[in-house]
Amino acid sequence: MSVSLHGPIGFSPLVQAVSWQDETIILLDQTALPKSEVYLHCHSTESLVTAIQNLVVRGAPAIGIAGAYGVVLATLEALKLSDEKARIALKFKLKTLEMARPTAVNLQWAVGRLKKIIEDWKQSLNLDLVKLLLAEAKQIHEQDIACNHLISKFGSELLKEGPVITICNTGDLATGGIGTAFGILVKGYQIKKTSHVYACETRPVLQGLRLTSWELHRHSIPFTVICDNMAAALMRKEKISAVITGADRIVANGDVANKIGTYALAVLAKAHSVPFYVAAPFSTFDFSLSSGESIPIEERSHDEVLSVLGDNHPEYAIPVWNPSFDVTPQSLISAIICDRGVINFPNQERIKASFSRNQP
Ligand code: MRU
Repeated sequence: MSVSLHGPIGFSPLVQAVSWQDETIILLDQTALPKSEVYLHCHSTESLVTAIQNLVVRGAPAIGIAGAYGVVLATLEALKLSDEKARIALKFKLKTLEMARPTAVNLQWAVGRLKKIIEDWKQSLNLDLVKLLLAEAKQIHEQDIACNHLISKFGSELLKEGPVITICNTGDLATGGIGTAFGILVKGYQIKKTSHVYACETRPVLQGLRLTSWELHRHSIPFTVICDNMAAALMRKEKISAVITGADRIVANGDVANKIGTYALAVLAKAHSVPFYVAAPFSTFDFSLSSGESIPIEERSHDEVLSVLGDNHPEYAIPVWNPSFDVTPQSLISAIICDRGVINFPNQERIKASFSRNQP
């Protein structure tokens, strides 16, 4: 599948979260947004791993793309060693890379695609292999852009008129293109279905407040940021047409891991008879796990939760639990919107049937 970076006019990503240039991975530093638009240049696998762990680049598809380019970097680094040492060093680097963040399966999926090329490469590691790997990484990037367009098309067809609630950030910062859930919002606004977007601030790292507001503003879409605990009151007060979220991993039975707070939104949506949609590309599906209970959930530093205290830290220790994601059971999901189509009321059979019907 070969597509250009930009889609139809007025429907293009405004920034590139990840790009490859002259043996360097360039990342828009998302920790500096919305105040500053600065780019981090990663010249080594190690610096990329740190950037992924520190959320310089984040969002499941974007870390998958970054990971794919990371394999190219790692191979270039390994080329500096003798062949035997190079293969061992490369294996170690790739393991570290694919485990940089454990929940979003896109990272393991993308690294795995390039690992397969390396495994099948019977000669010594060389620049021809690097060329092959770079072509594969670029294809992963381009495919994600194409997926975004299809997801936004299918999702916007499904939407009813009215305001929408979303969580975390799923736009051009989190993907290769216009975004998943966010792409649907952009398209939905263009076709006059999405009247307003309520963006949950997304404690503790505030991807909604910092990143989704930045993207909504740049797309001139009317929006309001709410604290995560305001969603119930909002659903009671206003007729919300849908909740739309992204996903970090969708398993065989349709359970979905996504940013912490997603499950709460799904429960609230059910209680208020609001459709709850999950939007994700095929790279977010993990058929090796049968249910959401087996999804590894990343736990992050307590400082992320405590940092709001600023200089006002008490003398006593404050125990914290900081899971970065939660799992929404399929029973709460009205539909999964994928680049291969819409899976209504997802369960194992419907997902399987949809994937066998809609081959790429
Ligand atoms: O911790 P983050 O910011 O990487 O979490 C991101 C999310 O949970 C997104 O909703 C998900 O990755 C989908 S992005 C299209």
